[in-house]
Amino acid sequence: MKNYITLSDIDHVETIIREARSLKSKNASSKPGKGKTLGMLFFNNSLRTRLSTEKAAKLLGMEVMVMNADKDGWALEFEDGAVMNSDKAEHIKEAAAVLSQYCDIIAVRAFPGLKDKEKDESEHVLNSFKKYASVPIVNLESATGHPLQALTDAITIQEFNKAERPKVVLSWAPHPKALPQSVPNSFAEIMQRLDVDFVITNPEGYDLAPHIRNGVKVEHDQDKAFKDADFVYVKNWSSYEDYGQVLNVEKNWTVDQAKLKNTNNAKVMHCLPVRRNVVISDDVLDSENSIVIHQANNRTFATQAVLKRILECSK
Ligand code: CP
Repeated sequence: MKNYITLSDIDHVETIIREARSLKSKNASSKPGKGKTLGMLFFNNSLRTRLSTEKAAKLLGMEVMVMNADKDGWALEFEDGAVMNSDKAEHIKEAAAVLSQYCDIIAVRAFPGLKDKEKDESEHVLNSFKKYASVPIVNLESATGHPLQALTDAITIQEFNKAERPKVVLSWAPHPKALPQSVPNSFAEIMQRLDVDFVITNPEGYDLAPHIRNGVKVEHDQDKAFKDADFVYVKNWSSYEDYGQVLNVEKNWTVDQAKLKNTNNAKVMHCLPVRRNVVISDDVLDSENSIVIHQANNRTFATQAVLKRILECSK
């Protein structure tokens, strides 16, 4: 694996899940990262990604440098040929080249603006780092995807699964702010690569991009979708059709215990952070149905497996 920018950088999902689970089961791991440095750049806030990635890198023996690029760095220009006479002080060409001398892997978090669909879908921040850096790039959540989270989610489902072919439902839930489609996009993509009965449920107007749904059943009735579900993955996202907008929804889509009644005592997942009693109710988050804390723990081992592969590939 040269980079981890999208899920297509993983050739066999099952193999990397096995590797992550094996790393989790071993307390003392080998140190293929000894003498190497991971540089992490955050253009947006984070708790789990920042700390689990640092932990994963250190478990592999790496040194870690972290920068809040939005607050502490120079404002970056990403346009080729730009006349930089405004607020942007440094071009990505120099920034990526310089960072490549300090770091052996560069990891970047850069959310979408949710105003210009074409610009967001071009993944200009991640792709500019890929273009101008001479070291591997890891996606810590970008405009359209969160592949480290998706790998974590797949590991977690495997750990808790008891069914031969589990029913997994990705459910939209309300949120006061316009959120990216990155997490549901990557979750939908990875579920299509596993042997699961995968259903997406969301209100009209919130269908994910056609190339993400890719023929997956979308059920606009949440109760129908939840019937016999083994796993319910809850997440808000803003509209793709009415790009980046929060639409009016008449029905209550908050996931509570009453909604879980028709499931197969479903395990409930969320990438976190979660707004209690808006996205998921207390009676679910505080119950045995919730596996969100276990899920967050798996971020470390998913990232460890990814970084290990990149280190092995760049030897
Ligand atoms: N799930 C996730 O990426 O969490 P953070 O935004 O806190 O990193």
